[in-house]
Amino acid sequence: MVPLSWERDTRKLFIRLLRGLRMLNFIQSAQTANPQTEDAVSLLLGCHDRIRHFTQVGMRLAESPQAPASDRIDAARAVLRYYTVALPLHEADENESVHPRLRRALPPGELAHANQQMVEQHAGINASVVELVPMWQQIERAPQSQDELGERLRLGTERLRTLWSVHLALEEDQVIPAMRKYLTEEDLTEIAREMQARRQPVPSR
Ligand SMILES: [Fe+2]
Ligand SMILES: [Fe+2]
Repeated sequence: MVPLSWERDTRKLFIRLLRGLRMLNFIQSAQTANPQTEDAVSLLLGCHDRIRHFTQVGMRLAESPQAPASDRIDAARAVLRYYTVALPLHEADENESVHPRLRRALPPGELAHANQQMVEQHAGINASVVELVPMWQQIERAPQSQDELGERLRLGTERLRTLWSVHLALEEDQVIPAMRKYLTEEDLTEIAREMQARRQPVPSR
């Protein structure tokens, strides 16, 4: 017989995952960026909110193998979509639009080092994502097989979350204040414009 405490715990996990997914829908609709009215810094910070959110959804997914399959499929699909479609755009914003302008504007020293570290840390984050993508794809395709992933999914997601906390602190404590202090209004406008251009649909031929 299934112990009552197990049923209670499973119910709690389900409610937690469901709340997370509802929140995900809310956040996706509420935080859709509008590059025409927002400046570069608030656009970048909006991306950071979404990184934190989808990493948290990934964590919840890894910790809730007993949750209903349909909820886990939705969660895996949302995380996959964020990490394979949206995150590469954010990295390009920083590597191609922010980094070169700061490199020209910053004097040698701590902030210049932080600007360089920003780009280098993306490689470690990407390596971690590459390990997680096949596991999220497996859950999306065959949620009943999540148990086969064992601790790999949870440990991999935890590692990613740790990398993010170091990386987002670097950017929010050093890189973004450096943008505000050392870049011109024209630089910031141009960065926002480039971010907008990256998100335009590719015209069909
Ligand atoms: Fe960032
Ligand atoms: Fe970054």
